[in-house]
Amino acid sequence: MTRDRAHDDERLAGAYRRGNEMPEESLRDWTRLIGSFADRPAPAIVEVGAGTGVFCAAAARWLAPSSVVGVDPSAAMLAEAVRHHAHPRVHYVRGAAEALPVRSGTFDLALLSRVIHHLPDRPRAARELARILRPGGAAVVRTTFRERLDALVYDYWPRLRELDRERFPSADDVLGDFTAAGFTVLKVTSFARPVAEDLRTYHARLITRPRSKFGHLTPEEFEDGLHHLAADARRELATGPVPVDERYDLVVVTAP
Ligand SMILES: C[S@@+](CC[C@H](N)C(=O)[O-])C[C@H]1O[C@@H](n2cnc3c(N)ncnc32)[C@H](O)[C@@H]1O
Repeated sequence: MTRDRAHDDERLAGAYRRGNEMPEESLRDWTRLIGSFADRPAPAIVEVGAGTGVFCAAAARWLAPSSVVGVDPSAAMLAEAVRHHAHPRVHYVRGAAEALPVRSGTFDLALLSRVIHHLPDRPRAARELARILRPGGAAVVRTTFRERLDALVYDYWPRLRELDRERFPSADDVLGDFTAAGFTVLKVTSFARPVAEDLRTYHARLITRPRSKFGHLTPEEFEDGLHHLAADARRELATGPVPVDERYDLVVVTAP
């Protein structure tokens, strides 16, 4: 089992944190939606593939949890999390979804945000989640399914859509793995919130290549897309700002 090591890169880890920030309101709306699937007050929360810790810190701020554990295999991403998203109720731990370094039956809520397509062994990860959640605890998968690749980023880098069609699982793939591990499907939905107030802000974020997917493009391809995005951002100065929304699919399953 070889894991995706893209996030071990310190440059990407720093760029990821800065380039994937979203407006406070959007982060709060997302966090509250995710937290709404916890079926008890003061839930114990785990984020698998926590990255730079944005959702761990947000959960600690807005969900009144008993504790939050953020697990990630990348030391570089966790260093950013500790530096920028520390909180007294959040503990960051190094580990992978397929062998989680936590006790069985401990958590009420597990979040996997933008991580499911990185997992080398999804069925094994689903079994691990069944182990660490208490019966009835919820796992929330926040992702983009292969059948809905409609983000704005593809307008500027169309080859990313082809690459992501190969990389991202379908809804059926994910539901199949979780139900095979004994989970019950509670909800399949999607939700969109602004990630940038206008194209200029969006451009300023993407200029640092803050996502591992940009590593699959040639420097020329990347510059070409950025050039088109900059031109549209300049035009927007005349027409007025248009917020950039990002939609994510959400699967919520409950543990056996
Ligand atoms: C795109 S980032 C998402 C970070 C965060 N959850 C978010 O939504 O901003 C993907 C993260 O998944 C982690 N990852 C990669 N392989 C993993 C695995 N096998 N188990 C757990 N996390 C993994 C990477 O190190 C990276 O931090």
